[in-house]
Amino acid sequence: MKLSNSRPSRVGRNPFVHRLRLTVTETIKLGLMSVTVFPVRLLLVSFFMLLAWPFAFAASLGRSEFVIEPQSWWRRLTDLCLRVIMRAMWFCGGFHWIKVKGERAAPSEVPILTVAPHSSYFDAIPVTMTMCSIVTKLESRSIPVWGTLISYIRPVFVFRVDQDSRRKTVEEIKRRAQSGGEWPQIMIFPEGTCTNRSGLILYKAGAFIPGLPVQPVVLRYPNQLDTVTWTWQGPGAFKILWLTLCQPHNPMEIEYLPVYTPSNEEKENPALFANNVRRLMAKALELPLTELSFDDRDIILSKGPLCIQDYSGLLELNQLVCRLGLRAGTSGTVLDEQAHRARKLQGGRLTLEEFGQFLSLPVTETLAQVHSLFDESGDGQIDARHFVVALSTVHRPSESMETLRLAFRMFESEEEDGEVLEDDLAAVLEIMLGVKEAELSGLFLTLGRPDTGRITYDELVHYIEEYPHFIRDCLDYKDHPRKFCCVRRQCCNGHNHDKDD
Ligand SMILES: *[C@@H]1O[C@H](CO)[C@@H](O)[C@H](O)[C@H]1NC(C)=O
Repeated sequence: MKLSNSRPSRVGRNPFVHRLRLTVTETIKLGLMSVTVFPVRLLLVSFFMLLAWPFAFAASLGRSEFVIEPQSWWRRLTDLCLRVIMRAMWFCGGFHWIKVKGERAAPSEVPILTVAPHSSYFDAIPVTMTMCSIVTKLESRSIPVWGTLISYIRPVFVFRVDQDSRRKTVEEIKRRAQSGGEWPQIMIFPEGTCTNRSGLILYKAGAFIPGLPVQPVVLRYPNQLDTVTWTWQGPGAFKILWLTLCQPHNPMEIEYLPVYTPSNEEKENPALFANNVRRLMAKALELPLTELSFDDRDIILSKGPLCIQDYSGLLELNQLVCRLGLRAGTSGTVLDEQAHRARKLQGGRLTLEEFGQFLSLPVTETLAQVHSLFDESGDGQIDARHFVVALSTVHRPSESMETLRLAFRMFESEEEDGEVLEDDLAAVLEIMLGVKEAELSGLFLTLGRPDTGRITYDELVHYIEEYPHFIRDCLDYKDHPRKFCCVRRQCCNGHNHDKDD
């Protein structure tokens, strides 16, 4: 797959990673705090969390999911107690004072607060301070103790399994937002996932679809050592807790920005509304905009023996297929069906018009861009099978073996003996890994069949199982990060493949 040169490469910019490096002094401090302050704080934090539980439990008894009951005195009292307990809990966690700038608008004025950047579970602090509702996945209800506290603030639950879930969630947000201040305000983290706060990734539209005013809220952790970031690659939940509780003080700033009322155009176009709010918040934070979305996360973080090596081209494709509306409609069945048709073409190459027919899409600028990504030779024709492999890769980046199986089904020879030619496999791997000039002669050499130049799916899978570091040890391609080429041959001949080169 080619990379169009119009946009700067996004390789290596991974906001879902948090690399934490401790200096010697920090390590010594950490050691001291771990045996002194940490156990005391952990005990106190746990105590307050447990103390909050009966209050939250009692207050959520007999509540309906659809109506708001009148605020009786005892509900108000419980609410106050909970706020005090939660504040005490954060205090014991080292968040001694929290700077709050600006003012939160009344629920009748703005039903939705959009909060960014989302980087940690400590982002719950503004939620417990305001007792706003949040949008969260249904599973969080069953976390012991914390789940009860979450239920207390009447979250909008997202049902991940439900096909219709996105629409339902948005409808519920809309219903509450239009209640004219009867329901608590909803705090939404529109990024939809945690990043390392190096920029603001694209916003999900949910908070902006109702087309009602929103109040942007920005969060800052002006700490020297970033112990709070909890994202997809990096320290886990407990390590974050341990590191944070070991800091003498954890500074945090919450700033309520002025209420943003959408224009008529923005009301009609939630994506535009979302982007304008994002820009405004990035400016307040003095952070850049990162043109990555929640969906791109899986591509960047793909795992497994055939994980993506260079995700820039695939991210570009992902953006284009999203724009074409193909991303939402893609499923395993759709891919199988496309693969079936692509196989039938028997390597026949498609012009832009034919490609449009293949996908039942009109010829547009975006379609032409996708087409050109696969036009290796520049003759205006592409192999549809390559497109299907790439679509499958961006659709399920962590299920690379499924994509590989699909590729074998498309490329196997006429006799259906399951064998695929070396050159075809090289092209497939180039697409799946996002690399160039993949060289498989080493692999065929170790398989002991260098002259046939053919391989079956089972043989390859067997081989990959044998060499879990398949990409590192057994594959050559342009700009391979491997340092010592000579190590590879050794490894692939069966010696010492765990050696750390
Ligand atoms: C945070 O993400 C950026 C990319 O947006 C990356 O360059 C940086 O190394 C990351 N920071 C840490 C501490 O890992």
